[in-house]
Amino acid sequence: MSHNSFGHLFRVTTFGESHGPAIGCVVDGCPPLLPLTEADIQQDLDRRRPGQSRFTTQRQEPDQVRIVSGVFAEGDGPQLTTGTSIGLMIDNVDQRSKDYSDIKDKYRPGHADFTYDVKYGIRDYRGGGRSSARETAMRVAAGAIARKVVPGMIVRGALVQMGPHKIDRNNWDWNEVGNNPFFCPDAEAAALFERYLDGIRKSGSSIGAVLEIVAEGVPAGLGAPIYGKLDAEIASALMSINAVKGVEIGEGFAAAELSGEENADEMRAGNDGRPLFLSNHAGGILGGISTGQPIVARFAVKPTSSILATRATVTRTGGEAEMFTKGRHDPCVGIRAVPVGEAMLACVLADHYLRHRAQVGVIEPRWPFEG
Ligand SMILES: Cc1cc2nc3c(=O)[nH]c(=O)nc-3n(C[C@H](O)[C@H](O)[C@H](O)COP(=O)(O)O)c2cc1C
Repeated sequence: MSHNSFGHLFRVTTFGESHGPAIGCVVDGCPPLLPLTEADIQQDLDRRRPGQSRFTTQRQEPDQVRIVSGVFAEGDGPQLTTGTSIGLMIDNVDQRSKDYSDIKDKYRPGHADFTYDVKYGIRDYRGGGRSSARETAMRVAAGAIARKVVPGMIVRGALVQMGPHKIDRNNWDWNEVGNNPFFCPDAEAAALFERYLDGIRKSGSSIGAVLEIVAEGVPAGLGAPIYGKLDAEIASALMSINAVKGVEIGEGFAAAELSGEENADEMRAGNDGRPLFLSNHAGGILGGISTGQPIVARFAVKPTSSILATRATVTRTGGEAEMFTKGRHDPCVGIRAVPVGEAMLACVLADHYLRHRAQVGVIEPRWPFEG
């Protein structure tokens, strides 16, 4: 069995390889009558697109999306979703497969070459084939649709740590995220990241990162205990992103160091009679169900495995070999993973919004949380 789909009522299926003719996806279950144009999707894709700064791979992919099904415009009216499956396509235009001829018979340490080969007995070595993060462009495209499914929901992401360097959370300014090539919310940290990553890049090495994704305007009540808990499905979705090695919700691993008094989010009666949480250590989820507070998830991305340094490996025939990767790569894949993380969180929330509506029928108004 293969698993190229995720989600239940908002269901995304992706296809395509790094160096095939195109990548694409089918989004099934999107409600009808939502305004949807290619420009709506393109703005998110442009944030993930390679080759935009010296800190991302120089592969030049315009990532121009085409909607090939699932929308209709009556006369001069707006283009709306029809409720049928939405098909999206992006042509691959900058494949340089010869870059990869050296790795044809060798496995890149830290990449998926060995495991794909051992599982399937065949591997598309051109850019990693299906294991390439090129596929994540379609997640971003699907996420742009998911954002429209939950009314009033805003999903934003930021890079909060690069290698050992963390941002100062007191400097957090969402407006800064678009002002630097790192999606960094702290201008001072962004300047440091720039110097630091230049050194990494020039040495032909790579480095990991931590990203934080926040969803605001999420109604209370989303999540399906017990085996479809919201936090469990967010963790699964984020962990499915290439190179992700750890996921946290709210305090995450830091919760282990807190006392019960410090960790539990106290409640007071809000002006409208609903509870008001005085903190958000839970990251907006209790018992696998959204509280109405912002949903806060973080994930750790490992350093890019394809680096210029020579590393020990083995060949397909069992011999020992040395290798280094000549192909173009991102020195810190965490940067372009920010829009991907946003998209995966948006897809999970859209799916749970529709599942909640199907089972319970009522969607709570959004929470007036100020804290
Ligand atoms: C946006 C993005 C870009 C990536 N670019 C590269 C790359 O240029 N070179 C590379 O070796 N890995 C890259 N990766 C990571 C690999 O796709 C990933 O390590 C590989 O598929 C093995 O999967 P795993 O790390 O999840 O085990 C990228 C990941 C992301 C999220």
